Amino acid sequence: MIITIDGPAGAGKSTVARELAKRLGYRFLDTGAMYRAVAWAALQNQVDLNDEVAIGKLIEAIRLEVGEGWIRVNDVDVTEAIRSTDVTAAVRHVADNPTVRTYLSAEQQRLAGDGDIVTEGRDQGTFVFPQAEHKIFLTATPEERARRRQEQLQRHGSAPTLSEILDQQNQRDYQDAHRPVGRLVKADDAIEIISDGMEIDQVLDRIVELLEN
Ligand code: DC
Repeated sequence: MIITIDGPAGAGKSTVARELAKRLGYRFLDTGAMYRAVAWAALQNQVDLNDEVAIGKLIEAIRLEVGEGWIRVNDVDVTEAIRSTDVTAAVRHVADNPTVRTYLSAEQQRLAGDGDIVTEGRDQGTFVFPQAEHKIFLTATPEERARRRQEQLQRHGSAPTLSEILDQQNQRDYQDAHRPVGRLVKADDAIEIISDGMEIDQVLDRIVELLEN
């Protein structure tokens, strides 16, 4: 069975998808990490981020391996490195690239195979797995997402203001919603959960309840 969880940045998709997979004994696929790994490779190889053709060639030249909680590019473990601010800033160039999207979408379908999986991203229920049995669109208001992000950053010792976070988040939301291919949109048959005021466990309970009905 395939369960897709799509939604904007900061809605808690990764944690929810990982925990849901654990509860159900399913595999878990973080597709954002795949886009981030290609962006990491582009930076590493000094590929011009505005050169669509060069980025398209890069994806064919690198070897991407994805597991539960780790990701490698050409045998280099980039699990931590893909979370850097440089990669976060570069990733939209990769995510907007049609060749990259075609390649990674096919790879995601191959990885899912016919097994049980919870897959998380922006286009999983719409484009990559339109046939998925269960689709969740997990979101939260911009203010709630920014507040959560601020708490997370504070725990890591950095202290941007809420309005700085909101500005960046608005930019990412805009990019996600306007990308030429694979844009973030709720699938017609997805169930929307707005997680404002909900703990992770409450979101999980709600999803499990939906799966049982
Ligand atoms: O969820 P994330 O922040 O790790 O995603 C990284 C980037 O990749 C983000 O800019 C959105 C993009 N992305 C995408 O276009 N399609 C996906 N299925 C997953 C992520």
